[in-house]
Amino acid sequence: MLTPLRCQNCTKKLTPQKKDDRKIDRDVSGSTSLMTVAIEAVVPAQRRALSDCSCNSFNRLNGQPSMTNVKQNRAAWNRLAETGSQFANVATDEELKNPLQTLETRGWLPPSVTGLNVLCLAGGGGWQSILYAAAGANVSVVDLSPSMLALDRHEAERRNLKVNCVETSMDDLSEFDDAYFDIVHQPVSTCYVSDIGRVYREIARVSKDNAIYISQHKQPTSLQIVRRDHHDNYVLGIQYYHEGALPATTDVSYREPGAVEYMHRWDQLVGELCRSGFVLEDLREPYRGDPHAQPGHFRHRGRYIAPYVRLKARRQSRTGETTEQPASRIWTPDS
Ligand SMILES: C[S@@+](CC[C@H](N)C(=O)[O-])C[C@H]1O[C@@H](n2cnc3c(N)ncnc32)[C@H](O)[C@@H]1O
Repeated sequence: MLTPLRCQNCTKKLTPQKKDDRKIDRDVSGSTSLMTVAIEAVVPAQRRALSDCSCNSFNRLNGQPSMTNVKQNRAAWNRLAETGSQFANVATDEELKNPLQTLETRGWLPPSVTGLNVLCLAGGGGWQSILYAAAGANVSVVDLSPSMLALDRHEAERRNLKVNCVETSMDDLSEFDDAYFDIVHQPVSTCYVSDIGRVYREIARVSKDNAIYISQHKQPTSLQIVRRDHHDNYVLGIQYYHEGALPATTDVSYREPGAVEYMHRWDQLVGELCRSGFVLEDLREPYRGDPHAQPGHFRHRGRYIAPYVRLKARRQSRTGETTEQPASRIWTPDS
């Protein structure tokens, strides 16, 4: 008889089962999930019980992503893609007239990406991938959602562009060789995995020395908001040190329906990035406020708390060399 335990997130009592008692999980297409098989083989029963808690909080199984969250988020994003979410808008003819300017208005990209290897990470939906491919890059797009990737495939075919679509989770880039990409571009998506460090380390591995990594993330304070009160103030109802999946909130601005989301602290968003082998070159907070927006509108909330942060980072050289010229010696009157 295995000792019962409590979920670290919701404290629900969980009863571990012996390995043989537990049926093998299947993914949405009905095929056996390899990751679940791996977990079955290596994770002790007590840790498996935590992973099975219906609150979806436990997402660190011997370093493997939780299959529950992967499945739930894949289904959520399939639904969003199929119901015309704003995040599933493909690149337009107008946007394709100047693809690099459309992709990045802050001058973070080189003047040309022709022949560069670009990874659009968690970037399904037929926008980033199509723009980079139109600009002459060799593009791979990774996404968890087959419906999002179908948009990339369809658009690439329609426009006679080449895009390599890979269905996987952002924290498992084993499909790609070390030091392969010149640019990694990741729209808001790290909120769907509990361990952002694992994502960063994978990106560091597949990036060439001095590669550019552009990413956008949800800010932690915005994710701490649970509701708007009767004075139209926003209430921070989730602790900064909250661990595990975020609970449902009354104010759902900047949250996606049906998805399991995690909050990452600044120490993790920026600190983990630096500890994974990147140097931060710029940081912006895209403005989402509107002075005329009424309470209840996401742009009203955007006036109080910036929902997103956008980072430009560069992969440090593996040998410790930089592309910069060594700083000239400081001149002093005696020198
Ligand atoms: C905000 S959308 C970004 C796509 C869109 N092209 C954009 O920028 O408008 C976030 C994407 O992350 C994907 N996603 C969610 N969890 C993921 C995971 N664990 N690994 C890879 N992609 C994931 C979703 O399927 C979705 O396509």
